[in-house]
Amino acid sequence: MQNRSFYVKSYGCQMNVYDSQKITSILESKGLKNKLDPKSADLVIFNTCNIREKAAHKLYSDIGRVNKLGLKKTIAVVGCVAQAENSEMFRKNKSIDIVLGPQSYHLLPKMLDDLENNFKQINTDFIVNEKFDYLSEQMRPQGVSSMVTIQEGCDKFCSFCVVPYTRGPEYSRSIKSISDEVKLLSQKGAKEIVFLGQNVNAYNDKSSNNDAKLSDLIRAISEFDSVKRIRYTTSHPINMDEELIQEHKNNMKLMPFLHLPVQSGSESILKKMNRKYDPDFYRRTIDRLKKAKPDIEISSDFIVGYPGETDQDFNDTLKLIDDIEFTQSYSFIYSSRPGTKSSTEADSTPISVKKERLLVLQEKLKKIQYSFNNEFCNKTVKVLIENQSSSNPEYFFGRTPFMQSVYIKSNDLVPGHEKDIDITSCNHKSLYGTC
Ligand code: SAH
Ligand code: SF4
Ligand code: F3S
Repeated sequence: MQNRSFYVKSYGCQMNVYDSQKITSILESKGLKNKLDPKSADLVIFNTCNIREKAAHKLYSDIGRVNKLGLKKTIAVVGCVAQAENSEMFRKNKSIDIVLGPQSYHLLPKMLDDLENNFKQINTDFIVNEKFDYLSEQMRPQGVSSMVTIQEGCDKFCSFCVVPYTRGPEYSRSIKSISDEVKLLSQKGAKEIVFLGQNVNAYNDKSSNNDAKLSDLIRAISEFDSVKRIRYTTSHPINMDEELIQEHKNNMKLMPFLHLPVQSGSESILKKMNRKYDPDFYRRTIDRLKKAKPDIEISSDFIVGYPGETDQDFNDTLKLIDDIEFTQSYSFIYSSRPGTKSSTEADSTPISVKKERLLVLQEKLKKIQYSFNNEFCNKTVKVLIENQSSSNPEYFFGRTPFMQSVYIKSNDLVPGHEKDIDITSCNHKSLYGTC
């Protein structure tokens, strides 16, 4: 392999962050050095996201920036843009050497070797189980809170979304292979395990005797003494089955916080989006969760300005936000993506109206978030200490059970410990405290 050092940049969701960690492990195990700056690397890897137009465009401007450095570097584009644009990428930008889809990262070392003889390298096959068999052996220390991908792909085909095309059909790893990975992560200091999947609560391990579901997996992993906290993301409302809801009630290691994206509060927009539920179903699901686990907090994703969204549709979303009181959320203006069903729908709402709606929605979410955080002021809350600030060692960072970020002024905290922290102040994003 000619390349002796590499740099990886991740865009998009946590699954890409996790995959980038695995890519780093694979290349390090082949003797390549990981660099934190593209300037000093021979190989530059872009792990891309295709979810919105902006994310995909950013890639090409970043490649341009690397080319301006003047030195000849090997450029590999991996991830969801690689999967979606395929060989078209070589035509769009001549400096790209490798195009590699999300299911084939184990092939990267071989592709780098082959690059020495051939001109360009490409692989965008869907062979998920091979990826996991190989990647599960590649382990790199993560941290107190460590992610584990348990499920990939999506069969839901929401009308606006590229994920079913970029990540392929739903696939679940076996409980055995996940347990092995959690064991290794625990040995390296992990106390919180975050299960990842595009449709994480559709998890279904058919290789096990009893057709294991997410609730079974959570129960199995919570038996590890070293694991103190468990979370999972991202869930789909239609897969919140009774067993999973009961797991929230019965399993104290499962944190009382759930990211359950609703996207819209309008019945007709949800129908057009092919989300497979209506606002009533969503409300009932939250009621069932709160009945089982009264202190559970909910977060969501919202899409504003879907084609044909009226003022009334938008007001229905605002009403739902008032009713549920989401304590954290991500919100986006609808982005038309090539190949999706909604990209062919008429969209007459001016962008200025969409931007205004997004502002109104984000202002509402911010207020709710602030008032939730404010309830913690002058109270004590259990925080899992994740790390010490590198720029200001007097501060530590941790999270509450409800995913709130906490900055703590102290000089004797230990990452990995759960501590009672006195909260002294807050803003809508974070809590501040001492102990
Ligand atoms: N599987 C998850 C979401 C994965 S994508 C779910 O079903 O909820 C993450 C978020 O990106 C989505 O929840 C959605 O809010 C947003 N998103 C996806 N496609 C989008 C598009 N075309 N335009 C704007 N936002 C989009
Ligand atoms: Fe995309 Fe819908 Fe699948 Fe989520 S459930 S990944 S939004 S198609
Ligand atoms: Fe983006 Fe692919 Fe994740 S499109 S959000 S990186 S699954």
